[in-house]
Amino acid sequence: MTVATIVLEHPCAASVFDRRHIDYCCQGHVPLSRVCADGGHDIARLLEELAAVIASADADVDPRTTPTSVLINRVLAYQHRHLRANLALLQLEASNLVATRGKRLPVLRQVKAMLGELSDRLNAHLDEEEDVLFPALLAGPSDETRRAMGKMFDEHREFSLLLRRLREATGDYAPGEDLDDNVRALYRALRDLESLVLRHHHVENHVLLPRFR
Ligand SMILES: [Fe+2]
Ligand SMILES: [Fe+2]
Repeated sequence: MTVATIVLEHPCAASVFDRRHIDYCCQGHVPLSRVCADGGHDIARLLEELAAVIASADADVDPRTTPTSVLINRVLAYQHRHLRANLALLQLEASNLVATRGKRLPVLRQVKAMLGELSDRLNAHLDEEEDVLFPALLAGPSDETRRAMGKMFDEHREFSLLLRRLREATGDYAPGEDLDDNVRALYRALRDLESLVLRHHHVENHVLLPRFR
């Protein structure tokens, strides 16, 4: 089974993949066995972990059975809104930390720059989906909307790469022992942002956009 299919069947599995940095969005077509072989993951342990999470999860809403207009409204109301709010808040927090601790912790300047780039590009992506792509999909797809969809897939891959750079710069969001509580909170929030972005890509890549191919 591919990793995207596992998350489609059991959305709660996303948290297990997040922890191991297994990409179930832009690389969602890869079978779990190959992901484990390539990434050095112990497949037996991973399956155990997945089984435990799935067994303890409440019944998830299955996006595959959700009508398109409802699904788009849900993406807009929850994912886009949360992404915009989180990006704005994180940029503000990163700026404050650079001002007070930037000299002692140069990595904060890097984090701020990367967040700025992610925020500019992701907000533009969300604008385009909201203003152009989603209305066009609801009106009935055309060749032009299919081209626009291709651009969205490409941009999702670019955001995944940006997030990977951010994670690498922060040592896997692991604050060193000398970092204070505010920096720890920023790193935790960055980790949450990554999860939010990946869930957003997943629903669009594997549920919404394939309906119009
Ligand atoms: Fe979106
Ligand atoms: Fe998107």
